[in-house]
Amino acid sequence: MTNSKKVVILTGAGISAESGLKTFRATDGLWEEHRIEDVASPEGWRNNPQLVLDFYNQRRRDVLKAIPNKGHIAIAELEEKFEVVVITQNIDNLHERAGSSKVIHLHGEILKSRSTIDSKLIYKCEKDILIGDKCEKGSQLRPFIVWFNEAVPMIEIAAKEVSSADIFIIVGTSLQVYPAAGLINYVHPMVPKFLVDPNIPDVNFLKNIVCIEKKGSEGMPELAEKLLKIIKQ
Ligand code: OAD
Repeated sequence: MTNSKKVVILTGAGISAESGLKTFRATDGLWEEHRIEDVASPEGWRNNPQLVLDFYNQRRRDVLKAIPNKGHIAIAELEEKFEVVVITQNIDNLHERAGSSKVIHLHGEILKSRSTIDSKLIYKCEKDILIGDKCEKGSQLRPFIVWFNEAVPMIEIAAKEVSSADIFIIVGTSLQVYPAAGLINYVHPMVPKFLVDPNIPDVNFLKNIVCIEKKGSEGMPELAEKLLKIIKQ
């Protein structure tokens, strides 16, 4: 695949919306029901770990019930002709389950837990995390999630991928959370860019961008078909 063009895709909660997983900033989104600082910050964890565990245990149960939709599948199918790197803000594993082989998770993974005192101690986790569940060093387990006010360890690797993209696609993200949203500044201005979202965020400052105002399950297969056709010719 060394001669293949490289497609880099930045995804957000919208790509998984049609798999039944809630987005964050919609009127019925997760941040309407929960305060970010209560459930997704180190302060929230210190103040009320049970609340944080309850929140993420529910996210894990939802992910285990969800199945990839046509949007995830179209992204995976691009691997037939392209080198594809998916950079996702999502904590679900729907890209992997759809068949994508290179997925960078910027904000962690819900099907993993980690030690509270040693961020390198990471475990597979398909059940609820309970108060009293401990890592091998004896500290409470927490979800393997990057919270607000925490560093985003994968951001440099992601920026490197974005800066070497031949084609860049954005799907289902409001582009409101940094540093993830800042990745779009690493794409070369001449690189063709596509954005799929039923509510197009402000990307007027980007050159060579085509906005497809559709849901992921419709817009992404259409776009993938076009890109795969171009390569076949
Ligand atoms: P948001 O909830 O901010 O944005 C979701 C985006 O998906 C919006 O632009 C919607 O228009 C779009 N959308 C909705 N339904 C869609 C569909 N069927 N197909 C395609 N797009 C659709 O979610 P994110 O941008 O992913 O971080 O949020 C970024 C980060 O903020 C999350 O990773 C999370 C959150 O706080 C952490 O928890 C650290």
